[in-house]
Amino acid sequence: MAVYQMGPIAMDESFIYTFFPLLIAILLLIYIKSKEANETVGEQTGSTSSTYSLWDPDRKRPAVSDTAAPTFFQEPITPFDDSMEILSTPPHPFRPFKPKYHMTMGLEKCAPNDLFLLDSLYPSRIALRKRIVNEFPEMTLGASQTCDTTIKELYSYILSQHLPLRFPKLFTITADAEFKNHVSGDVFPAIPPKSSMEALKILATTVEDDILILQKEEERETYSLQGFIACFPNGFDSSKKMGMGLNEIHEPVPMFKERLALSMERFFGKLEVGKWVRRLNWTISTHDRLFLPTGNHHYEGEQIPEQPETVDLEKTFLRVERQVLLRLPASRDMVFFVKTYMTRLARVKEEGQGEALATAIDGWPEKLGVYKKRIVWGEAVKAALRA
Ligand code: HEM
Repeated sequence: MAVYQMGPIAMDESFIYTFFPLLIAILLLIYIKSKEANETVGEQTGSTSSTYSLWDPDRKRPAVSDTAAPTFFQEPITPFDDSMEILSTPPHPFRPFKPKYHMTMGLEKCAPNDLFLLDSLYPSRIALRKRIVNEFPEMTLGASQTCDTTIKELYSYILSQHLPLRFPKLFTITADAEFKNHVSGDVFPAIPPKSSMEALKILATTVEDDILILQKEEERETYSLQGFIACFPNGFDSSKKMGMGLNEIHEPVPMFKERLALSMERFFGKLEVGKWVRRLNWTISTHDRLFLPTGNHHYEGEQIPEQPETVDLEKTFLRVERQVLLRLPASRDMVFFVKTYMTRLARVKEEGQGEALATAIDGWPEKLGVYKKRIVWGEAVKAALRA
């Protein structure tokens, strides 16, 4: 029998005939198994071949993205399977009221997939936002020059990554690098336009959320408002808040200074890229107007209007804001998204929650009740909810 010398090891012929085929078989098996494992991970996370994963160097990229940074989010965005169906789904029934109000940060984790919650109101809300932006450009859009690159970063992310990946039937990127909104029919460049105002206008009429951009000011040790899209502000004029720090922005809010100012400043300082959070705010509105640069709050020194005897629950609303806060990866600026939900109080009562809401209105501390105008509509609304 022939004996072969391989370096220091001597092997006979029968060993080579069995060893090498066995080695090749093992390597083949390892390759097949690892391929299977990759496919299983994709199934478990709900991802498909079109999923854009930031951790995968060979990921499929949307046609255009100029400022995409390496870690926008920590979980991949997965396509909403039947995004067309979203347009026949009613808005999410957020009912955040509790018997007793505690002024806390109230933050929860927000999955990247849930940044924008689209629903059946999307087409009418977008049409309304277009009218508001055209009629009140100064109060709805604004940015300082320091925001130019931040706005580009945000625009690229939302138009060329997030929306087409999450809702692939509603938003696409064309071969000509254009973003197509299949609901409104709008087509915009996927690359951010040079003008920040133009970029903000496109964003304002593509997503339903208002967007506030805050930048760190070293000298003032705070984050200040440097850019905004505010089509549905709840009682304040964002253009008047421009340049203000977090404390100053919230100056009219009773108890804010004592209860939230410090924790909020700390939180803004330490929130990491990729860790998105969300919170809910709620109030009562005695009309259905969404664009409210004044009016839903009572400020010190203002006269208190006469209290109505009765209210019509069909025309009085639970106004809920779903707010999402995140840090942009390239600029490291903070972005605050606000989506507004309006529910007729008649509906809340039909759901059997009339008493719970009346109790929650009573649960606001006195000063907060004044700020939210409970002194005006409180008794009439509670009586109607309890009737
Ligand atoms: C996690 C962060 C935040 C918390 C916990 C928070 C909390 C609050 C609370 C409790 C109110 C009182 C409103 C109500 O209860 O109806 C309020 C009002 C307000 N917040 Fe915030 N907020 C946060 C972030 C922001 C950011 C980033 C902005 C950006 C501009 C902002 C702008 C405002 C404005 C403009 C008002 C109304 C103030 C007024 O009446 O003039 N908030 N916020």
